[in-house]
Amino acid sequence: MDARDLLRSVRMAGSAQGWRTARSAWRRQRADARDLPRHGAERARVPGAALRAEPMPGGGTVHFARSVLRVRVAAGGAVFCGWDGAGPLPSYALAATPKWAPAHDPADGGCPPADPRALLEPDQDGWRVVSERMTVRVSVHGAVEFRTPGGRLLRRELPPRWWDPVGAAEGSRGTRWVQRSETPADARVYGLGGRAVGPSLPAGTYRLWNTDPGGSFEPGDDPLYITMPVQMVVADAGCHLVFHDTTWDGRVTLRDGEEGAGSGHDRHGGCELRMDGGPLRYWVIAGTPSRVLAGWTALTGRPALPPRWALGYQHSRWGFGSEQEVRRVAAAYREHKLPLSALHLDIDHLDGHRIFTVDRARFPDLPGLAAELAEQGVRLVSIVDPAVKAEPGLAAYDGGRAVDAFVRDARGREVRGVVWPGEAAFPDFTDPAVRAWWGGLYAERVAQGFAGVWHDMNEPVSFAPFGEPTLPRSARHALEGAGGDHRQAHNVYGLAMAAAGYRGLLELRPQLRPFLFSRSGWAGMQRYGGTWSGDVATGWPGLRASLALVLGLGLCGVPYSGPDVGGFTGSPSPELYLRWFQLGAYLPFFRTHSAIDAGRREPWGFGEQVLEHTRAALRERARLMPYLETLAHVAHRTGAPYARPLWWNSPGDRALRDCGDAFLLGDSLLVAPVLQPGVTARSVRLPRGLWYDTATGERYPGRTRVRLAAPPGRIPVLARAGAVLPVAGADGAVELEVWAPREGRTGGGLLFRGDPEGWRRPRLERFVTRWEDGEVVVERDGGGAPGYTVRLRGTAS
Ligand code: NOJ
Repeated sequence: MDARDLLRSVRMAGSAQGWRTARSAWRRQRADARDLPRHGAERARVPGAALRAEPMPGGGTVHFARSVLRVRVAAGGAVFCGWDGAGPLPSYALAATPKWAPAHDPADGGCPPADPRALLEPDQDGWRVVSERMTVRVSVHGAVEFRTPGGRLLRRELPPRWWDPVGAAEGSRGTRWVQRSETPADARVYGLGGRAVGPSLPAGTYRLWNTDPGGSFEPGDDPLYITMPVQMVVADAGCHLVFHDTTWDGRVTLRDGEEGAGSGHDRHGGCELRMDGGPLRYWVIAGTPSRVLAGWTALTGRPALPPRWALGYQHSRWGFGSEQEVRRVAAAYREHKLPLSALHLDIDHLDGHRIFTVDRARFPDLPGLAAELAEQGVRLVSIVDPAVKAEPGLAAYDGGRAVDAFVRDARGREVRGVVWPGEAAFPDFTDPAVRAWWGGLYAERVAQGFAGVWHDMNEPVSFAPFGEPTLPRSARHALEGAGGDHRQAHNVYGLAMAAAGYRGLLELRPQLRPFLFSRSGWAGMQRYGGTWSGDVATGWPGLRASLALVLGLGLCGVPYSGPDVGGFTGSPSPELYLRWFQLGAYLPFFRTHSAIDAGRREPWGFGEQVLEHTRAALRERARLMPYLETLAHVAHRTGAPYARPLWWNSPGDRALRDCGDAFLLGDSLLVAPVLQPGVTARSVRLPRGLWYDTATGERYPGRTRVRLAAPPGRIPVLARAGAVLPVAGADGAVELEVWAPREGRTGGGLLFRGDPEGWRRPRLERFVTRWEDGEVVVERDGGGAPGYTVRLRGTAS
């Protein structure tokens, strides 16, 4: 029991819930001791020497003394490598599909076809596969190198090592493995899911096991709710993404290039991946950051397009307590002239925390409330937890039992955990039939008038005063018919729940794009929706962590996320609240939320000045809506996140790679939030190009570090010279804010205008801008008047 366990047990002791959790944690330990395979003798194995190779469409197979490696270049350029005969499917991550309006189910997972032009051929000391984006070289001992077409090394995977249980077949499930790799010394690594540090991940060890940190988290707490074996690597030689497609528990250890072994040309950074099991298979995608994200989301599914209202400001509260209070808060937003897009109801509106129920005494007419709020342009969003109170008579429980939906132990007994409603059972979302049943339950939420859902506690959490607060590792799961235990299913539990919820909503309201965001998830979760920070601790470090999370997740293909503005715990100072709010206003998912015992997060609770400044932030958010909607469409079509690290367009600029306190919002804006107390000016290093401070119009050359005013009323936001930014004018109509290009240069921008909530194809308009006879001209791409009011900025006149 460590200090954290002790603290948890002291907190929980004494209450009925406390005893329940203790009993459940103890049961969990006992089940694992009884049912998990014993650690028996293991035999270490390396591939050994290569014996022969066979070309196949897309690459080929190399046979080693003790393993087989398959290399396959897919159409689009992603390279697959699978050891021990592993192929790309089945996979929870993959979802290649050409459909514009996806309705993916994990079971639909598709894989792109092979690029028939790529073939394995002999090379000195091994074989190679030459493709458009990468050259892959396989050595006779099983090292695999990935190089740019120009021959620069992106990544070298050393021969792996396995530990096979004695007596088991080679490559059998459950085999542990380790793989070390080398990257250029200047490389920086991003991703691994949602991490509280970064976005560039410092050297250290990161666990791959979705975890509720319990209570709250700060930078340094790791792992968190979403872990993914996805690394985005940025180096002078080029960028690449590597994805190890196995869902098991594991650890990634990153080593700095500067501290790494070797000297001079041999110097390199490195990574070691140790996994408890699963196939050893991985994908590598190389190119510019935007190509890499396009390749990654082509492979795993494009990000869902949120309805337009989900790009507006949203307020959530754990503890509204009654319909009247919800009404009162909505009215207060109106009175204070603060635009509000949605209100989120947490577990306190449920009957005794039972999912798919309503506390009718306090929320007697939710459909009525929802209709009333909808008239004011405010949607209602509902929390949905996976755990179902184990209570005969409860429709969700009885219904689940009827379809054998709940996770069982190795002896066939229903696994019970403890969550908010008390003792609970857990649907096995890795079973397609269970997903179908679960999706149907959302009819109740839809009937209550909810416009979207918020998946929580789906790591999954089962409270525990000691040990891990989740299901027993020995608990059984369907795993799409393959069968397995929680060690393999744990990390995809939230992803599969999202699949069920997404499909459920889609079937119930086919004309509407589902709005869903989920605390836990895995590679590919973006096809069902977004996520949020989870319980980020209130404090300046938490504020910084929330930005790291959003940027890191964006690089893993999950572009729609944002923090609990103000932090989840305690009460932020007015200054901290304001700075958090100002950052949140530029992030895709903009929502205030906090714990039931924490202070409130309404903008009017922090004094007149803060109220005025939050109003300004909200106005700016509303003004930027056409731009944000455009970015949502761009993310949906290409995987490019709305919020991007500063190096996005200049990955070769090393000075930008470690920047964790500023970001690009699309191609046009650079946001430099205030992340420290007492700050009224801050510096930021600008990417190449020319930039304007949007507040003062001042010009700043790129590749310099500049100091900008950051008075309480705003955070610095810069516009790229040549940007054509679609914004909402005073009357709400779209206007183009054009930032003069550098003299003699050109610029441009996009506008996607689409169906606010439905599936009709959006209209894409492109604009260009240039200097002509000493004037800035704005046109449609291809010629003609832009068709919108143009507001020119950045010129003296
Ligand atoms: C944990 C979530 O992270 C938090 O946002 C929510 O308020 C609580 N669960 C209660 O549902």
